[in-house]
Amino acid sequence: MPKRPTDHPADAASARNSSPASKPARPILPPSPDTPTPLLGNLTPSQFMRRYWQKKPLLIRQAIPNVEAPLSREEFFELADQDEVEARLITHFRNKWQLEHGPFAPDELPSLKQRAWTLLVQGVDLYDDRARALLDRFRFVPDARLDDLMISFASDGGGVGPHFDSYDVFLLQVKGKRRWRISAQKDLTLQPGLPLKVLQHFEAEEEWLLEPGDMLYLPPHIAHDGVAEGECMTCSIGFRAPSAGELTAQFLYHLAERGDAAARPDALYRDPQQAAVDRPAELPAALIERVGSILAGVKWSEQDIASFLGTYLSEPKPSVVFDPPQRPLNEARFISQASKSGIRLDRKTNLLYNRRFFFLNGEETPFNGAKKWLIDLADHRCLSAKRFVTLSDDSSVTALLHEWYCAGWIQVGELA
Ligand code: SIN
Ligand code: CO
Repeated sequence: MPKRPTDHPADAASARNSSPASKPARPILPPSPDTPTPLLGNLTPSQFMRRYWQKKPLLIRQAIPNVEAPLSREEFFELADQDEVEARLITHFRNKWQLEHGPFAPDELPSLKQRAWTLLVQGVDLYDDRARALLDRFRFVPDARLDDLMISFASDGGGVGPHFDSYDVFLLQVKGKRRWRISAQKDLTLQPGLPLKVLQHFEAEEEWLLEPGDMLYLPPHIAHDGVAEGECMTCSIGFRAPSAGELTAQFLYHLAERGDAAARPDALYRDPQQAAVDRPAELPAALIERVGSILAGVKWSEQDIASFLGTYLSEPKPSVVFDPPQRPLNEARFISQASKSGIRLDRKTNLLYNRRFFFLNGEETPFNGAKKWLIDLADHRCLSAKRFVTLSDDSSVTALLHEWYCAGWIQVGELA
């Protein structure tokens, strides 16, 4: 399934090894499906999914009361200066939209006193545990659909212009104020010749001023325009939007790589009946027919689809680099530490599963018995010390976990 398409103002994959901010994240579990939560305006996640998800916008006042921005302004600017990070600067000076790609040294950014600019950083959850913890609150939606946490900083009057996105988004105000105007208009024609997607005609139907802690949910294709009123920061929790074309192309690639889709994958093309020709450039009709029958023989099962989705969706974004511990604990010390403080998935790790397999950072492995603890690790992204102790007698489990720890895929310690 593809990641969100690049019509997002700051949408691209990137990663960085270490966080500029080391303040630990607090463990925040997603609300359970049938518990009302302020995050969703006191709806339960089940009610929200039934009534709003992919259907209609929802404004939630004080979704996260006393919210704190995951990064301070200075930490955010520091992040935007990193090579691996996808940062974009959008300015609207003298009525002209401009877009520049980072990294941006602090002196390359417009002055804080200058109006109408915004800096956006994609995938902040990959670089900072607090951002990852914020994203985790939205895990009442399957991980397979969750994309990333983008943060935007805007000076007074800053924004990315009226536009629409092709995926669902929660827009959480974390600092300062932003005025959002939205419209379910049918006309989604874009202004031609601009470096970013700005609607030609935007007719707001509703308007709200969002303050810290307020959140706006938008399904795909709702036109929206958010303008900062004074300096502000907004977190955008975005989802993957699969296009049928991309899914098909990636699935066929997956099948081809596995090499077992065709009945006889190694059989070479043969044409013992080919006659001599006087039009050598013409594609032989028999060739088309023969290849057609090879393609018609391509077979796949439901498990092939699950394998494709599991490996494809758990594949880390292209620039993700894991940080193996510099001086790893040996297995005995790892077991003793983890028995005291538990383990957690690294913030960059993706772990999905289905009935028969688990998919860790793009690799598929059959469960082979070891199922429950892996499912818990995937669903909670951590295992408590107490839970780890119950596993520590099984040397195949501890060896596997130690291997993952040495690769930087898991960390010792529950989420702070
Ligand atoms: C922003 O944070 O400025 C833009 C987010 C969006 O409209 O999708
Ligand atoms: Co948008």
